[in-house]
Amino acid sequence: MEFETYLRNRAAYIEKGLSAEIKKIKNAPQIIIDAMAYSLQAGGKRLRPILTLATAEVFGADKKDILPAACAVEMLHTYSLIHDDLPAMDNDSLRRGRPTNHKVYGEDLAILAGDGLLTYAFETLSNLGSNKKIKPQNLALAIKSLSNFGGVSGMIGGQVADIFAEGILEGKSKRAQILLKNKLFKGSKTPQYFLLPKESKEVSASALLSYIHANKTGALITTAVEIGALLAGATGNNLKNIKTYASKIGFAFQVVDDILDATATAKQLGKSNSDAENKKLTFVTLYGLDEAKLAAQKAVKDATKALNNLKGINKEKLAPLYDSANFFLSRSY
Ligand code: IPE
Ligand code: IPE
Ligand code: MG
Ligand code: MG
Ligand code: MG
Repeated sequence: MEFETYLRNRAAYIEKGLSAEIKKIKNAPQIIIDAMAYSLQAGGKRLRPILTLATAEVFGADKKDILPAACAVEMLHTYSLIHDDLPAMDNDSLRRGRPTNHKVYGEDLAILAGDGLLTYAFETLSNLGSNKKIKPQNLALAIKSLSNFGGVSGMIGGQVADIFAEGILEGKSKRAQILLKNKLFKGSKTPQYFLLPKESKEVSASALLSYIHANKTGALITTAVEIGALLAGATGNNLKNIKTYASKIGFAFQVVDDILDATATAKQLGKSNSDAENKKLTFVTLYGLDEAKLAAQKAVKDATKALNNLKGINKEKLAPLYDSANFFLSRSY
């Protein structure tokens, strides 16, 4: 089967799961359910939940047992997009081929719809507790993974650094200037210093950019894969290697997102391309298009190496993971 056909079929399977989960919401004003569904059911590529299912299958699980977890991942991702588009963040007007959530429902409801999807993601994932085929300790690890990679040590941390890095290449981050003026950067050195975790070995624009990409995007792709692996019972080196695979393709995914933002049209992408206008620190703005392509290629090569290291698994089931890595590089939307 052509990989694009596989993606379409899997996306349709996930759409059904998402509709079923949304229908289960009780005792909520219809308007917030509508606002959540507006963005959730707008037809994203569904790559993260597809990875959750494909990874679980590699480690022997049945996709129907994992579907709620895949839906949870997509809910959390969609929340991140609604908030990312807000005027206070990237200030974008087009997403998934439609006006952004706040353009339709207003900023207040868009914020709450994002919050609603975030919390409902955890409710949906926790509901797997009633499935006897899922070990409770594996479910607990999956919930922890989603919290950790979706939180300040993951996606949120990456988004913070992304916002504060705006303008940094021109020598000034507007947001950092405000905090400096208000003496909120105590004993300050450079904005980078406050944006990178204290564990970082290097403080530079390039280290900051790697941190941003690994976290604002790599983290959710890593948890998508890790949750599939954990729920299917993967442990030890296999878990380590599958996470390496995920973080590498996650990084490549954002580098390609930067390239597409600079080279494709909003119509082709179904979303606004605003990196230049927002003075974002991206692989294209820091290194140029050619270097950016090389960086994405290298990350995908490393990802496939990590897949080659998996042991004792059904190799035939690995094809979608190899194909996903290549698709992350070659995609045009
Ligand atoms: C967009 O992700 C946000 C990024 C991390 C670059 P996708 O390109 O996967 O968006 P959808 O889900 O297909 O809309
Ligand atoms: C977004 O990065 C990452 C998250 C939403 C967490 P971008 O801001 O580059 O994503 P797009 O280009 O708006 O989809
Ligand atoms: Mg953004
Ligand atoms: Mg954005
Ligand atoms: Mg982008």
